[in-house]
Amino acid sequence: MSDIEKLRNKLAHYGQLHLLEFWDEINDDERKELFEDLSEIDFEEVTNLYRRAMESRANGREKSDEHIQPIPADRRGSIVKSSPAVLKAYEDAGMEQIALGAVAVLLLAGGQGTRLGVPYPKGMYDVGLPSRKTLYQIQAERIQCLERLALERFPARNQNFDDHRRHGLIPWFVMTSEHTKEATQDFFAQNNYFGLNPEDVIIFEQGMLPCFTESGKIILESRSRVAKAPDGNGGLYQALKDNEILSKMESRAIEYVHVYGVDNLLVRVGDPVFLGYCLAKGADCGAKAVEKAFPTEAVGVFCVCDGHYEVVEYSEISLETAQRRNKDGMLTFGAGNICNHFFTVKFLWDVIKKHGCSMRLHVARRKINTAWTGNPESGGEPVVGLKLEKFVFDVFWWSQHFATWEVRREDEFSALKNADGAPGTEPLPDTPTSARRAYFSLHLRWILAAGGSVVDQQGNPVTELSTLNSALPCEVSPLVSYAGEGLKSMADGKLFKLPIHLTAPEEEKLRNDMLKNNCIGINNLINTALK
Ligand code: UTP
Repeated sequence: MSDIEKLRNKLAHYGQLHLLEFWDEINDDERKELFEDLSEIDFEEVTNLYRRAMESRANGREKSDEHIQPIPADRRGSIVKSSPAVLKAYEDAGMEQIALGAVAVLLLAGGQGTRLGVPYPKGMYDVGLPSRKTLYQIQAERIQCLERLALERFPARNQNFDDHRRHGLIPWFVMTSEHTKEATQDFFAQNNYFGLNPEDVIIFEQGMLPCFTESGKIILESRSRVAKAPDGNGGLYQALKDNEILSKMESRAIEYVHVYGVDNLLVRVGDPVFLGYCLAKGADCGAKAVEKAFPTEAVGVFCVCDGHYEVVEYSEISLETAQRRNKDGMLTFGAGNICNHFFTVKFLWDVIKKHGCSMRLHVARRKINTAWTGNPESGGEPVVGLKLEKFVFDVFWWSQHFATWEVRREDEFSALKNADGAPGTEPLPDTPTSARRAYFSLHLRWILAAGGSVVDQQGNPVTELSTLNSALPCEVSPLVSYAGEGLKSMADGKLFKLPIHLTAPEEEKLRNDMLKNNCIGINNLINTALK
């Protein structure tokens, strides 16, 4: 039997014969491409995954009150409710581990960013800051700032570094996908890794899964290619396994990993306070949370479900449960997930070895470009198909020592999900404009807290966001300050006029270029002592 006959039989067995629909029409190169594409698919596995995902969707269950409980009080911590001394102790503990070289950060950058709608990885997006820094650059600079702070606080810890720890203190693992890997690699290389040592930026790739129609047919993207999508941010665990990432971490003596999504402009990469909190709790997994803005906000919330830690989506709980409040008036299920997690390397090994990455599958309905639609009349038009996705937080189910850490949304979370709508249309949440505003607002508060004063172009004092707009930016370089610290010498007793852009000495050239080009966002320090 010829190879193509064997393939035809296999496809017929799994009800996927339509994938050869164009075989007689395509040329030899296309046939080769399609044959290879189809040969790479484990049809037994993917059709099973599809079945499991559909079962889980069908059972997809509104979780009634008797099944879900809030996270126990002793496993919940909060920045607002912790004293400055406790926060300092957490921060010290986290910084110490960073200075010891025991902490890695891991960025989830494999998403397709369909809602933002740019044809390149979201990490390369420039939200329109005066510095024109992209999400990748901002995160790279936060890592460098944190390394500096950790070494300033614990210089002795770094004396006996052996070979594998001689480079940067915090290795940055970047999970990409087929859609984002090459562009990400090139972008980092072209930009000299934004000041990081290339050896400390470890870019790896997650897996892909075919896309399906509602009736379980795999979709063809073109006549010679199967439509595939990354297997969700929970594809992380399979990718850690396939790319031997945990062994790489171990060879660097990494014990703790901060995992986060690419699209939070305010993300505190490697946050030592969160780290110290998780260490104090003896957590194997931890998650940052923000208080839900309102009961029906479409974010997942942390809870215990039938004895296991979980994130339940808003759609999985009743309105009544979503609206339930404690005696103190706080929402009972109000700890919203912001894709910002702590793991011990030991726990990640367990996920891979003991649990075999066998996670729950979710189904997402998305537009998929396709040549084969199952409906000959609509050939060539995008169809709505099903993507199968795993979620990074579904491993919490296996956690024995979970803990959540609630942070202030305005300080730590502003997501970039949607493009700005056209003028006159209903504004969407989580756009470049909202992210930029959150960034400027935070940095304005940093300058004020450090003793600076800020005025607008007319000389009126500016004390809060409402006076700001994107034409009057306030940006502090991540190389200057990680979380608002270190600004006293620059700001105390000084008067600043918007727009403000505080830069580190090594960024002077950038600043001068901006001045030369008459760009907004120059360091607009009036340099007037107030006293
Ligand atoms: P989102 O769920 O927002 O998905 O990802 P997305 O792909 O970025 O955007 P849309 O839904 O297509 O508009 C949350 C985080 O998980 C990562 C994303 O890069 C982002 O950091 N992610 C998502 C992956 O790393 N891999 C995936 O397969 C999906």
